[in-house]
Amino acid sequence: MNLAVLGAQWGDEGKGKIVDLLTPRFDIVARYQGGHNAGHTVYVNGTKFVLRLIPSGILHPGVTCLIGNGVVVDPQALFAEVDELAKNGIDVDGRLFVSDKAHLILPYHRDLDLLAEARRGERKIGTTSRGIGPAYEDKIARRGIRVGDLADPKGLAQSVRDNVSARNRLVHDTTMDWQSVLSQVVEISKRLTPMVRDVSLFLSEAFTSGKSVLFEGAQGTLLDIDHGTYPFVTSSNASVGGVCTGLGIGPRLIGGVMGVVKAYATRVGEGPMPTELHDDMGQRLRDGGNEYGAVTGRPRRCGWYDAVAVRYAARINGLDVLAITKMDVLDGLDEIRICTGYRCGDRTLTEFPSDVGQLAACVPVYESMPGWSEPTKGVRRFADLPTNARRYLARLEEVSGVPAALVSTGSDRNDTILRDDVIAARLPGFKLAI
Ligand code: GDP
Ligand code: IMO
Ligand code: MG
Repeated sequence: MNLAVLGAQWGDEGKGKIVDLLTPRFDIVARYQGGHNAGHTVYVNGTKFVLRLIPSGILHPGVTCLIGNGVVVDPQALFAEVDELAKNGIDVDGRLFVSDKAHLILPYHRDLDLLAEARRGERKIGTTSRGIGPAYEDKIARRGIRVGDLADPKGLAQSVRDNVSARNRLVHDTTMDWQSVLSQVVEISKRLTPMVRDVSLFLSEAFTSGKSVLFEGAQGTLLDIDHGTYPFVTSSNASVGGVCTGLGIGPRLIGGVMGVVKAYATRVGEGPMPTELHDDMGQRLRDGGNEYGAVTGRPRRCGWYDAVAVRYAARINGLDVLAITKMDVLDGLDEIRICTGYRCGDRTLTEFPSDVGQLAACVPVYESMPGWSEPTKGVRRFADLPTNARRYLARLEEVSGVPAALVSTGSDRNDTILRDDVIAARLPGFKLAI
């Protein structure tokens, strides 16, 4: 049985921790979209790892990790990550593979990302400036360079030349030399080639021999190119549809879908976020949750849990269960709020609007819950949670329309509650108990 674990808010929900935790139950972990704009944090015995391109299952020896065709790969970033892991004694040799159909992020993509943001001025997206958008633009425009193209030196030279020329026509203050880019790419190919596979075929053979796969999403549903708060989104399908297109598998192979959410809300970058708090409480969540970007270090915008947004993510992804993270960050609050609807002019909305302008004009409708004074931090059994924390979780499940199979009470692997009853009811056939 194969499980998709993906973000059901605006990214940074704690996917890395959850994927790492569940990895021992699977043979393979596969990324299907995004690139090194992702920053997935995993703590193992106090050591912090931030995975960007490499699936968060890599810390478990013997697990195979795949980077699918839907991912955009910056080879320098990939090698930097491989080297960083090696320094920590983690060897990826023979168990990290990259799709031959994945598109490459090359140095000009980063320049084009910065240029596009500068040109947008006030209307900037607040990208991670990793060249993600421009690499996907090249893919859709059918001029991108794929990992498999590294095997064709002549075609590669032509494509690099064309793409660097296009970059030079757009970026006026510096000129990039296509031949030096080409020699970088040739150098890259020496190290990348042994990792290249037909990932769709690899997975098909794995399924036939009874292996199970965990599909790891990057970003979150509200940053999805189609279903997110467009144009303030990333350039890929972070929602469940991306699993099929980004790996080359059929939908029936996705046995279950787990949506990861924080017990509150955060967003990094621009775009509407109805429950954002600009007051001391927002700062309290930021400090308590250490809400600073894993990739860019930017402070994350913080606010109360937005059930309208999570219900929407549940619909888009067909979520079977939630994993609710960062409960401990709410420890010690007198009152906790949950947004259950939006007030928009003289109407109350219970469905997430498609139009970003309308969303920006929405004012959250809150209900209030009492907080708890006893800590949830590090609690590993549901019954050991303070009564009000259990009530809060029950209300989150109710207003989100999805039960929580997992509750996270700290950044460490083991600070986690797995609810066997919810797993048995909603993910029958999955043996997730650790
Ligand atoms: P991802 O991108 O979804 O993998 O999430 P990030 O790694 O960007 O951000 C989540 C942050 O929250 C990381 O620093 C995690 O170590 C941390 N984290 C995850 N779960 C918990 C939790 O239950 N409690 C606390 N306090 N921190 C957590
Ligand atoms: P993980 O996987 C949170 C945001 C950026 C920006 C928008 C577009 O760690 O959850 P991009 O560089 O992708 O073109 O930026 O998307 N963004 C993320 N926000 N978590 C992420 O990844 C993100 N990846 C991109 O801040 O608003
Ligand atoms: Mg992150």
